[in-house]
Amino acid sequence: MSAPTNNKKLLDWVAEIETMCTPDQVVWCDGSTEEYDRLMAEMVASGMAIKLNEEKRPNSYAFNSDPSDVARVENRTYIASAKEEDAGPTNNWIDPAELKKTMTELYAGCMKGRTLYVIPFSMGPIGSPIAKIGVEITDSPYVVVNMHIMTRMSPKVLEVLGDEGDFIPCLHSIGSPLEPGQQDVRWPCAPIEKKYIAHFTDENLIWSFGSGYGGNALLGKKCLALRIASNMARKEGWMAEHMLILRFTNPEGKKFHIAAAFPSACGKTNLAMLQSTVPGWKVETIGDDIAWMKPGADGRLYAINPEAGFFGVAPGTAEYSNPMALASCSRDAIFTNVVVTEDKDVWWEDMGVECAGGTDWKNNPWTPDMKDADGNKIKGAHPNSRFTARAELCPVICEDWENPAGVPIDIFVFGGKRTSVMPLVHEAFDFEQGVYMGATASSEPTAAALDVSAKLRFDPFAMTPFIGYHAGDYMQHWFDMGETLGDKAPRVFYVNWFRKTDDGKFMWPGFGENSRVLKWMCDRVEGKVEARETPIGLMPIDGDLTLDGLDIPAEDWAELMKVDTVAFKKTVEDAKDYLAKFGDKLPAKMTEQLEKLEARLG
Ligand code: GTP
Ligand code: SPV
Ligand code: MN
Repeated sequence: MSAPTNNKKLLDWVAEIETMCTPDQVVWCDGSTEEYDRLMAEMVASGMAIKLNEEKRPNSYAFNSDPSDVARVENRTYIASAKEEDAGPTNNWIDPAELKKTMTELYAGCMKGRTLYVIPFSMGPIGSPIAKIGVEITDSPYVVVNMHIMTRMSPKVLEVLGDEGDFIPCLHSIGSPLEPGQQDVRWPCAPIEKKYIAHFTDENLIWSFGSGYGGNALLGKKCLALRIASNMARKEGWMAEHMLILRFTNPEGKKFHIAAAFPSACGKTNLAMLQSTVPGWKVETIGDDIAWMKPGADGRLYAINPEAGFFGVAPGTAEYSNPMALASCSRDAIFTNVVVTEDKDVWWEDMGVECAGGTDWKNNPWTPDMKDADGNKIKGAHPNSRFTARAELCPVICEDWENPAGVPIDIFVFGGKRTSVMPLVHEAFDFEQGVYMGATASSEPTAAALDVSAKLRFDPFAMTPFIGYHAGDYMQHWFDMGETLGDKAPRVFYVNWFRKTDDGKFMWPGFGENSRVLKWMCDRVEGKVEARETPIGLMPIDGDLTLDGLDIPAEDWAELMKVDTVAFKKTVEDAKDYLAKFGDKLPAKMTEQLEKLEARLG
């Protein structure tokens, strides 16, 4: 196949990788429907994909991964900067020369018996000044079809790249060559000790080996749009964040734009498309996972969503919790590691509908009453099973979601899963305290990464696995952005939807009802309501955050609004321990905020 470009850097790179990986053939992808249908047909024929019921789930497919390849692998994710100190204490660092040597050996001949696909893609609207072009080389047709949905793929990308333009090279292999005559497996991948998700940050280069799943393999997402982009953003004075973006419009038509950072599997997709229960207030979605933000000519911070689709957590997605996500994957969708029902539709735990049975994510016959040897229910879908859906199919997608100029952010929200201590909502006194809140955000673990320990973890800005450089420098970058933005900086809030009672029930109804909390934030921004000063920040005065129609026991509400100073003092001690490892890279302003908080807690 002849190459559809004269870009020398690209041609040279593809030739170099072809020589190293020795695929049977090279295919240049164009993002067309014909290409998508052809690859899906091939994968159905090979047994990798299951075509779903055309009546129930038009143009949709299901995949089951290898049971070892179900989520990001943070222990195998590397920042290979020339200097170790540039990776910092939150990243795994390896010397780039050493890692290249190791990985070059792994890549040698790794695409034997397979096709090398070249995927030119744009993160952000093609040609937008804030967009970036990447080219992924992969031997996984599953990656190609997912990139069709998650990124902008079209011949226009190569047009914009031109003969001289620059791009971010993203090399991916599943690491499973095929010998002549060898039977392929359903989901080829390499064993964990051969998996590497590597970022050569000094040269904006990504090398991924051995995994075919999610952020390990769809390299435009966490690798490019967060780890590499956060490096570029720091140098160029902008921000690449693990944030959803939404528009919240009040009954008078005033629009507020909110960007919220919660760790993986902590509620971004849900909040991004929530159905407001506050009369007259409406939410529209701009993005559900990643925000790129730059100061605009008017001094405000403008955000775009660099992605074109949603790679959303399936379990828990139901008509009562996230109907807009369900609608987004009602057709033209890809499902990975869910149950395929007898009538060839999909199902997962907490979908809000009954399931008679089918094939589980491990490809075994499954019924909902099945139990393991210990008597526990066998889950049909993996907890990190995902849907890949086109953003344009989301019924509440905002008309400005592809506006190359972005939307002006009024409010930043931080949060995580905390079953105790952290109240429902509090507001920072000022931007600098807001940075402290983001920097000391913490969460209990979820299924989105395989290898995170079971205890509470600090997760600064929900970015721990995604900061492509030293986290202390990253915190400083946030303070610097605050100085640049001055009084135009977004207001900062911290939320927790996940408080539980002693008997394990959620105290706050969550989902659509979270709109009540967002409304309080907007009222604060507009100066419509005062707030109550507490040692940790500003909190709602009784009655300002309306509970009409909700059935929350008074003692639960008191808990949700309580500041437990003893517990917070412990949190401050834990934060100090955590921040100690940043050494002299810890911004002085962080120490200042810690001291102020300690003084307020008394
Ligand atoms: P990533 O795609 O991994 O970055 O995750 P995410 O942050 O987009 O998380 P998502 O919105 O998919 O939510 C993950 C889980 O949290 C799902 O099981 C949801 O049902 C649950 N969840 C989200 N919002 C709420 C809420 O307000 N209350 C409760 N109780 N659960 C929630
Ligand atoms: C996350 O883990 O934050 C995700 C899924 O959004 S993945 O694309 O696998 O990173
Ligand atoms: Mn995410």
